[in-house]
Amino acid sequence: MTGHINLQLGWPSPSLFPSSQLLKGASNVLSSKPKSAASLVYGPDAGYAPLRESLAKWLTQIYAPHTSLKPDRICVTNGASGNLDNILARFTEPGYTRNIWMIEPSYFLACPIFMDAGFEGLMKGVPEDEEGLDVGFLRNSLEESEKNAQQQKPVLKTGSRYAKLYKHIIYCVPTFSNPSGKTMSLRRREELVRLAREFDALVVTDDVYDVLRWPEREDVDASQLGDVPPRIVDVDRTLDGGPKDIWGNSMSNGSFSKIIAPGMRVGWAEGTPAFTLALSQVGSTRSGGCPTQLSASFVHEMLDSGALEEYLRDSVIPTFRVRYYGMMRAIKKELLPLGFEVSVGKPYNASSQYTNGHTNGNAKSIPEAGGYFTYLTLPSDLSERTTKLATVALKKYDLKFAFGDMFRVQGDEGSSQRAAQGFGRGIRLSWAWHTEEEIVEGIQRLAKMIKDCRDLA
Ligand SMILES: Cc1ncc(COP(=O)(O)O)c(C=O)c1O
Repeated sequence: MTGHINLQLGWPSPSLFPSSQLLKGASNVLSSKPKSAASLVYGPDAGYAPLRESLAKWLTQIYAPHTSLKPDRICVTNGASGNLDNILARFTEPGYTRNIWMIEPSYFLACPIFMDAGFEGLMKGVPEDEEGLDVGFLRNSLEESEKNAQQQKPVLKTGSRYAKLYKHIIYCVPTFSNPSGKTMSLRRREELVRLAREFDALVVTDDVYDVLRWPEREDVDASQLGDVPPRIVDVDRTLDGGPKDIWGNSMSNGSFSKIIAPGMRVGWAEGTPAFTLALSQVGSTRSGGCPTQLSASFVHEMLDSGALEEYLRDSVIPTFRVRYYGMMRAIKKELLPLGFEVSVGKPYNASSQYTNGHTNGNAKSIPEAGGYFTYLTLPSDLSERTTKLATVALKKYDLKFAFGDMFRVQGDEGSSQRAAQGFGRGIRLSWAWHTEEEIVEGIQRLAKMIKDCRDLA
């Protein structure tokens, strides 16, 4: 095959889109007078009520089988990105909110959202370790930040609209992270919640890849997978008797972008009922209603009828699984002999005492893979030239991939230094967009480029 290969793109391939299931949902809605009346008006602030109900049931099955998540914990959003903006508008004031802590390598498109909200220069990286987060580094940095804090009270966001402002935001993708592919251990999830409670921080997690999972080994049956890791919001819901106060110290950003289609612009937020209610009352929602309404009604039809589960089980997951194995075989054959390394960290259940309301049946579970991405470290002789290599790959080999420097926390000198010494020497590859055959060809092009570079050196 010839032509452009884009292993950077974290988009699901259009061949996977569930158009017929959405059409059925759309037709159910638009051919019913009550349903179309409910979906074509301005939405309620917290979003299309039937979707909140069906989400509560679905999320209970996935994350809380021993309890029941109530719809008042959930509001419908127009995706994780738009909702991050709403969180910052409602729960932060730059200055009083001292810093945004981002686990690095970081999802680079989150940086401009924080900058737009006034946090330029206040974003700081926290290194990821083999269990997903260097918690000692974060503690020291939070202590330092508190020592240097100038502003002890909000000055702009005062009054009853802002009943709660957090002093810190900690942003991460705990499961099948973008970009590293790592999953944070249960132990780190607990430590993070305890730190957040101690320092008045809100942990914002993009839990957008959680359900896309399969055995790491090709010969293992999917029925052997353990439970989906609890989200940080689940840990906060249950750890040491539950949230510290009515607001809690964590929220989950869910999204249908990665599991139905990004153009739907439908996601959800989950937190304590007080948090969710306040979030759903941001000014633009009070004026325009929930920022996604008609799409939300189509998604509800898919979820409620079981079509989403079926689609994930029979279409998306098997497709990604096949592509993943194809990619890993090609990496093993073409790239590891050249000195590349792959690290996905320790399994999330490596060393936890965590049992709060969750079975810890994961203790014996098999290693898992999932999400959209894997992260490779370049051979040591080339590791200082990641950015240059990405440029050459695009120009001469028609191959695109995301590279380490993109994933540093913008404006943080420490993050730039750590990028130079570590994660900056990596590249991120996605299996979401291309077929297995194209992915394999992409890896072959990458191997050829490395060999050509060495020949020229
Ligand atoms: C970690 C992470 N968060 C958020 C998004 C975007 O989500 P949404 O489409 O729901 O705004 C992405 C998409 O790549 C992502 O990887």
